[in-house]
Amino acid sequence: MRLVTFNEYLEYAKSCSEIVIEDTKIHVGKPHRIEAYQPEEFSLETTTVWSFPDRGDWATHRGDYRGNWSPRVARNLILRYSKPGELVLDQMCGGGTTLVECKLLGRNAIGVDINYEACILALDRLNFNCNQPSSDWKEPDIKVYHGDARNLDLIEDESVDLIATHPPYANIISYSKQKKIEGDLSQVYNLEEYLRGMREVAEESFRDLKPGRFCAVLVGDTRKHR
Ligand SMILES: C[S@@+](CC[C@H](N)C(=O)[O-])C[C@H]1O[C@@H](n2cnc3c(N)ncnc32)[C@H](O)[C@@H]1O
Repeated sequence: MRLVTFNEYLEYAKSCSEIVIEDTKIHVGKPHRIEAYQPEEFSLETTTVWSFPDRGDWATHRGDYRGNWSPRVARNLILRYSKPGELVLDQMCGGGTTLVECKLLGRNAIGVDINYEACILALDRLNFNCNQPSSDWKEPDIKVYHGDARNLDLIEDESVDLIATHPPYANIISYSKQKKIEGDLSQVYNLEEYLRGMREVAEESFRDLKPGRFCAVLVGDTRKHR
């Protein structure tokens, strides 16, 4: 794991104003002006089936990072399973949806992704001022690392209060077919190999998480013989 600092993001943006992941280009480098800090309508999900009116586009949330999760999923998990000031880990953070929700909800957070350009995008999505979204809000500490979810060597044992993460669904959506990235679990074409990788992610998650706390994983079905 290697920390990607906000200054490194600014330096990146000086020489390159976009990130490219597969065939998607996304502009980065400018602070975002926020129109809404939270969804217009939101109530915590209370049953085992979650259903949302739309994916959600408040703050810096956009649907442009391949296969990103709805911020409504992240918000539900964070509000239900953590308290302000606690530490949330998303070790496959992609474009930073979980981290943005942590910033808005006053949770400290660690985001990790194996794709350097995803780390830059996550820092870009965090590049906004949070003008006290609520009276008890305190600026949280949010860090982004370039690294592999199977080896989170800079995270101490039993230090994390909540894991909320969203791995690739094996190779259903690819993040590095065009620019090869060693260790990217979206490039595994054999189910057994994918499951071995996810087992290592689970073992590392168990090491990081405080006893009795929660680990939430969103993963889709793997389709065969479509
Ligand atoms: C489904 S996306 C996550 C999207 C994220 N929830 C969001 O809202 O933007 C899965 C992510 O896992 C990352 N990934 C794949 N293999 C990884 C690994 N071994 N370690 C860390 N990240 C990995 C990919 O680069 C991709 O960004």
